[in-house]
Amino acid sequence: MEIIIQPDGQQASQIAARIVAKIVREKPHAVLGFATGNTPLQLYKNLVRMHRESDLDFSGVSSFNLDEYVGIPPAHPSSFHSYMWAHLFSHLNIAKERINIPDGLTADIPAYCRHYEQAIRSAGGIDVQVLGIGTNGHIGFNEPSSSLSSRTRIKTLTEESRLDMAAGFGGQEGVPTHVITIGLGTIMDSRMCLLLAFGKKKARAVARTVEGPITAMIPGSVLQMHPRTVLILDKDAASELKMADYYTWVYEHKPDWQKY
Ligand code: F6R
Repeated sequence: MEIIIQPDGQQASQIAARIVAKIVREKPHAVLGFATGNTPLQLYKNLVRMHRESDLDFSGVSSFNLDEYVGIPPAHPSSFHSYMWAHLFSHLNIAKERINIPDGLTADIPAYCRHYEQAIRSAGGIDVQVLGIGTNGHIGFNEPSSSLSSRTRIKTLTEESRLDMAAGFGGQEGVPTHVITIGLGTIMDSRMCLLLAFGKKKARAVARTVEGPITAMIPGSVLQMHPRTVLILDKDAASELKMADYYTWVYEHKPDWQKY
């Protein structure tokens, strides 16, 4: 794992955007894995700006989102579909037919999940998977106790996750109970994982993900087994890391050819 600690989320998101942009420039038909939530908002703003101001071209790119609520229509203002169109897709030249977000209204969830996995494989696999992390250590909506080799499937949200998402549904009671999420095994198949975490409330989950044992109780910890995971953190999210000084030293002393 590479751990990059930045003074704030703005600077962290600039590095994240440079990483994604480099992949798109080097591979115009790249397959990008996207997350929703507060954490990647600044990353998406940066990508939109780079697309507008430079030659960053998304016309050949495909995308797969991590998850969607079950039972929520795409047009619902708090659906992950609405989020992605509002914050990213409407502002890029990405082809609509190559955008994939799980269908929360599908009639046959198991068949749909198999189809989603197949679609990722047919597209050539995910080149970079953008991830946030829940306060309980979830990535995607692989909640604690998720199989470390799980594939796309329905999951029941924990109370903690539903509380974190209460604002979009007028309180915790209104938050859907289930989601379709790609699995930890699916995430592990990505060529690169890019996990962003900002703020004190993520510090414990980050520390357990990076420095704790690999355990289904902290699903993010499976990334310790991934050959190419980069975590980009602000100071607060890094505040419980025991080896923070070492990670900072490593980043500052990267050879030029390794810099983002
Ligand atoms: C979102 C997702 C989740 C979030 C996580 C953090 O698509 O899969 O794992 O990344 O819950 O959410 P924020 O960024 O809102 O703190």
